[in-house]
Amino acid sequence: MDRSPTQITLRRPDDWHLHLRDGAMLAAVLPHSAHFARAIVMPNLVPPVVTAAQAAAYRDRILAALPAGQSFTPLMTLYLTEETDPDDVVQAHTDGIATAVKLYPAGATTNSASGVRDFDKVRIVLERMADIGMPLCVHGEVTDPDIDIFDREAVFIDRVLKPIRKWVPDLRIVMEHVTTQDAVDYVRDTHKNLAATITTHHLIINRNHILAGGIRPHYYCLPVAKRETHRIALVQAAVSGDKRFFLGTDSAPHTDANKLLPCGCAGCFSAPNTLSCLAEVFEAAGKLKELEAFVSLNGPRFYGLEPNEDKITLTKGDAVSYPGHIDTDVGPVTVFDPGFALHWRVDA
Ligand code: DOR
Ligand code: ZN
Repeated sequence: MDRSPTQITLRRPDDWHLHLRDGAMLAAVLPHSAHFARAIVMPNLVPPVVTAAQAAAYRDRILAALPAGQSFTPLMTLYLTEETDPDDVVQAHTDGIATAVKLYPAGATTNSASGVRDFDKVRIVLERMADIGMPLCVHGEVTDPDIDIFDREAVFIDRVLKPIRKWVPDLRIVMEHVTTQDAVDYVRDTHKNLAATITTHHLIINRNHILAGGIRPHYYCLPVAKRETHRIALVQAAVSGDKRFFLGTDSAPHTDANKLLPCGCAGCFSAPNTLSCLAEVFEAAGKLKELEAFVSLNGPRFYGLEPNEDKITLTKGDAVSYPGHIDTDVGPVTVFDPGFALHWRVDA
């Protein structure tokens, strides 16, 4: 007899890693994150969101773009540069403007040119953040051209993350969008001040999805999806209930025109169907009961926030379909295709 549930109710989830962009793109994508109560908003705009004043202005633009009746709290991040002013960071956190700081190694990903090359130069900022308990969100990939792109996350752990954790052991760090068994093991073996976000798409695709039988630019993102053994390690971490792993969708919209260039942009836009996709992944693993920990409980716990009081219900039924793309004033944006049917819908 099939005893699997057909309905689950969860505390309303949060997205601990989201790209909302700005202007016309912001207006078009923001409503698609409506099921989330809060999101850590990435600062890699052009120009980047570096200062408290820029973060406050960006937060105002997000709130102004929010459709009437939709509740959503953007939790802002500051883009760390070698020139970042430690006092401004502390002030942004104390004033409730910025929740975290984002570290991009220079050149690692979209709009990361102003990121960090010499980690010594940001040491004082990191020390001040540790003093006030402000988390650092890390894009964990080295940019050394001699390191194979599939090895860049594992090498980052040894070359950058371990030294930073040694210098500033009290700094609370989120290793963003982990893609490897190496990162999962490192987080599991570290019992203090370290957590990791996992994206929806990295729980579903491996590198074959991008490259086998034709190139599929809409699956290209950074860090790039790895081989199947790594994807399985990510699923095991996500469904384990381990409090150090939580959802950060890294939903990263780019227009189709920009995805399909000879040198196309990195990013999967998964905001519209993320919860349906995750319910399938957790159900397939026989771990639906752990979905709430992953999407609604573990993230706030790490960030020192209360989980949301309101609830959402997911119901299983006939296949649910999502549009293949959304229209924006700057062109269509393709929605992440999990490659399997989705049966769980979020009730209104
Ligand atoms: O795939 C990605 N897209 N990875 C990132 O780190 C950045 C993001 C973006 O901003 O497009
Ligand atoms: Zn991202």
